Amino acid sequence: MDKDKAAKRLDELREKINEHNYYYHVLDAPRISDTEFDQLMKELMELEERYPELITSDSPSVRIGSKPLTAFAEVEHTVPMLSLDNAFSEEDIAAFYRRLQKSLGIEQFEMVGELKIDGLAVSLYYEEGKFVRGATRGDGQRGEDITANLRTVWSLPLSLREKITAEVRGEVFMPRDGFVRLNKARQQEGLTFFANPRNAAAGSLRQLDPAVAAQRPLDFFAYTMINLSGDGSKSQWKILTNLKALGFKVNEHATLLNSLSDVLEYHQHISELRPQLSYDIDGVVFKVNELVCQEKAGYTSRAPRWAIAYKFMAEEGITRIRDIKVNVGRTGAITPLAELEPLLLSGSIIKRASLHNEDIIRGKDVMIGDTVVIHKAGEVIPEIIRVLPDKRSGREQLFIMPDQCPSCHKEVKRIPGEAALRCLNPACPAQAVERIIHFASRRGMDISGLGEALAAQLYHSGLVEDVGDLYALTLDKLAGLERMGEKSANNLLAALEQSKTNPLRRLLYALGIRFVGERTARLLAANFGSMSRLAAATYEEVIAIKDMGPQIAFSQQDFFQREETQIIIKKLKIAGVNFQEKREDVKESNLKGNRFVLTGTLQRYSREQAKEAIEQRGGQVLSSVSKNVDYLIAGEKAGSKLIKAKELGITVLKEEDLEKLLNG
Ligand code: IVH
Repeated sequence: MDKDKAAKRLDELREKINEHNYYYHVLDAPRISDTEFDQLMKELMELEERYPELITSDSPSVRIGSKPLTAFAEVEHTVPMLSLDNAFSEEDIAAFYRRLQKSLGIEQFEMVGELKIDGLAVSLYYEEGKFVRGATRGDGQRGEDITANLRTVWSLPLSLREKITAEVRGEVFMPRDGFVRLNKARQQEGLTFFANPRNAAAGSLRQLDPAVAAQRPLDFFAYTMINLSGDGSKSQWKILTNLKALGFKVNEHATLLNSLSDVLEYHQHISELRPQLSYDIDGVVFKVNELVCQEKAGYTSRAPRWAIAYKFMAEEGITRIRDIKVNVGRTGAITPLAELEPLLLSGSIIKRASLHNEDIIRGKDVMIGDTVVIHKAGEVIPEIIRVLPDKRSGREQLFIMPDQCPSCHKEVKRIPGEAALRCLNPACPAQAVERIIHFASRRGMDISGLGEALAAQLYHSGLVEDVGDLYALTLDKLAGLERMGEKSANNLLAALEQSKTNPLRRLLYALGIRFVGERTARLLAANFGSMSRLAAATYEEVIAIKDMGPQIAFSQQDFFQREETQIIIKKLKIAGVNFQEKREDVKESNLKGNRFVLTGTLQRYSREQAKEAIEQRGGQVLSSVSKNVDYLIAGEKAGSKLIKAKELGITVLKEEDLEKLLNG
């Protein structure tokens, strides 16, 4: 194709792709299949590769990420990005409403109720309909230029349906499911967690490499616009309608309200809706509808007087720390735990919160007896946010980490480079009980009925010193335990018997070797095939496996050299616990060292099954496409991952090809 023809075709492709992108990401109603979409993208990218001079700034290919930056440039906002005043109660809202009635000199006026999306405010500058620059809020006057990252947000239009020049503002956020998936993938890779979707969105936008941002599930809602090229809209409601018409995603829950009772009702309605939303909100926002009324109400130096955020507060609560105890974990890590005056918070009673380590206690200046603010991190884990120093009586006590293990009274040490204090005594009773609990856990040997209480009982009665003794339990021995009926005893023995057939990878994970999580256990099992071969493996042999670092190799050496390990393994062997990774599980480890990414819908496997099958053969499944990936397995409706893989020249396989690979 000659250059003129290519230019024409590229125009067509860009228009078509942008149109279908809009149906898919903004309206959530695709009109063509992902495969068809990918075909268009592929053709576009191939043409752009041949004629790079024809690439435009609004080409959909920029969604995949452009060149990494070294720093973000500073952008001065043409109109400052203001903040919002907060209201926390109906009284606050009523007072806000009365103030407006007074300043506007009217009893009744319209307001727009919107969701307060918990993300990051951004400003987008469009010149004659083209997205040219985007910035963070920064200090309100100046923000950072994050244009390249914003271009990767699929629901953010790169060109508008009218060639206007305008500044559009809204919120970039990460949907909850995307956040959970991202954190899971990060856990697999041993990376740190994002505390909440907002932090994840912020971290993603702050990436210097747009290709990384492109891998993050970001989304965008527009909520205001300053039209620089025309008359502009006369009301907030009209602005929202116009934003929709220009191709933006506008939140569907925005509503026109006519009175104070409408306003309060809206807040109530949204707080009930909140758990069902697919993204986080931290309140609702009320805005005077008519722009002339907004101007009349005016501004303070930091916020408009015509708008207010009514925040949801339910997730935070205040309570007192009764005491701080320490807990000894399976690996000897000593964790301080705050015992709280019980507090009902978002549907459950909270009695304890981890304080993690001494640095955190000092950093937050937590003392025994302090009044503290609590919330549930990620809506589940109780966490102490801060101390209320004004509530101190003077009788609070400093908490000092023990210099002895609370369980075995041996000396504890802080290993350089680690945040935790550790009990280094392998014979420590608290650690022994924790090891039994871990061994029996669902992801370990899955011995149902063997929980915390029973593990402690078995250990303290002398029946079980280490996990090897579990398999020597009998009805007679169990009969002597408190609260152990015949039926429970029989069930436990049956669960133990059943667990003997678990594959080696489960046993390795259950043994709690340091740094050996489920994925590493699977790799070790697949590579060595049996316990005896793994036990005999040298440091060099372990480290030679792809993805095995010195930490794991060292830990494996240390574990198998220990006398206690040898005793446990002997007991497990005598009991007939399976020490092999079955032949069909290993399949010669024929995928050893290969990295895969799965995308689209597979017909014969679930994602989990495909992943398991690949990992059993020594392969590794990653969540995102990068140049380190060897194969992309593309099922039906594969999307952006397929495009990226093709761009990077990664081998793309269909489900049938995967099957052939799996079967050697
Ligand atoms: S209007 C001058 N509308 O809340 C008006 N803000 O606390 C400024 N936010 O920085 C903002 N959803 O990040 C507005 N529907 C919404 C919003 C919203 C979320 C955020 C935005 C802003 C912060 C102010």
